Amino acid sequence: MCVSRQDEKTAASAHMISVVVPTYNEAENLPELLERLDRALAGRSYEVVVVDDGSPDGTAEVARRLAGRYPVRVLVREGRRGLSSAVVEGARAAGGDVVVVMDADLQHPPELVPKLAEAAGRGCLAVASRYVKGGGVEGWPWHRRLVSRGAVLLARILLPEARAVRDAVSGFFAYRRECVANVKPTGLYKILLDVLVQCKPRCVAEVPYLFGLRTRGRSKLGTRHIADYLRQVLALARWRPLKFAAVGASGIGVAFAVIHLTSFLPKPVSVALAIETSLTSNYLLNRRWTFANRRTPLLAGWAKYHVATAVGNGVNYATTLILHLLGVWIYAAYVVGVAAGYVANYVTSELTVFIDKNTVNQESCEDTSAGMRAHRQVPPRGPLS
Ligand code: GDD
Ligand code: MN
Repeated sequence: MCVSRQDEKTAASAHMISVVVPTYNEAENLPELLERLDRALAGRSYEVVVVDDGSPDGTAEVARRLAGRYPVRVLVREGRRGLSSAVVEGARAAGGDVVVVMDADLQHPPELVPKLAEAAGRGCLAVASRYVKGGGVEGWPWHRRLVSRGAVLLARILLPEARAVRDAVSGFFAYRRECVANVKPTGLYKILLDVLVQCKPRCVAEVPYLFGLRTRGRSKLGTRHIADYLRQVLALARWRPLKFAAVGASGIGVAFAVIHLTSFLPKPVSVALAIETSLTSNYLLNRRWTFANRRTPLLAGWAKYHVATAVGNGVNYATTLILHLLGVWIYAAYVVGVAAGYVANYVTSELTVFIDKNTVNQESCEDTSAGMRAHRQVPPRGPLS
């Protein structure tokens, strides 16, 4: 049989591991990173693709110098354009079927790369995770831990795809090159969220690791990136919380009409009718628009929506009547009542009524690695576990 040059290249690259490393001012860390990677990947075919955003500390020159000793390629981009797009560009330039994405600053242990690459080679998304048994963070004060946990929790509430992993904001993972290369980054830093949502992996393998302290250079991420993260999660959630709020606002109009038309009735009855009517119009609009892709059964969903919004509606009902008793104009009292019930309503609706069935996928992914302690299929558990 005749093997073309293209086939030869494909066969050779199929087994190659491409490690994509985004860098910004990491000159001091590259020598140790490459040395440890080389040791960890001894006997395997691999390459490292360094994607540098024109670091002023000369990271690119250091990488080029080290290319004499290790299989390193360097991509340099003009100006700082963010970690996520650097990862995608690195994956586009990579030659292997599997890419491993990691930081340059040694907070991600290079020794874990073979294990991640193996799982990705079986078709799973492999994620190095701080939040599975055996993983963790070193030396973080309580408020940093809280922000990180909060970020993961938010992603899990708003993005069904993020419920497949415990550490959906990890920057250390491995997957099919082709998929990572085609991701469109929706934020500057959390590329794994884009991979989870846009690639829809059929299985995931989480490998525990300890996110160590940075010993050289400085972190590029800080509290000012929280806004970028919130925007990214909202964009990936297709702005559902905002749509939900818009629907809620329309419900206020419906409620006002009912209060107006039933003004001859006692206020406790009138407000109850207003809440029930707007609840139903909100449900129908959310079903058709906010959660249009979830195929929620009409009547069963309506019943559940009563349960899910019970807390919010109870809060609304009580607040409205109390404020009215205190002399507040009924319409103003109602608006304050609605605002008080909004957050509780959103969270319970997302989690109990408009359940995303699309991510349920029974296909299995064989796990042969003994070290893969936290391997599972997508999604095995309840929303917030
Ligand atoms: N090319 C490029 N462009 N690289 C960047 C940029 C950028 O704008 N910003 C940061 N990097 C590189 C850094 O040089 C480093 O190699 C890596 O991206 C991570 O940046 P750090 O500044 O070290 O981030 P961190 O330690 O706060 O957070 C990291 O770990 C988290 C937990 O796993 C990031 O990887 C997060 O994405 C990750 O969630
Ligand atoms: Mn870091």
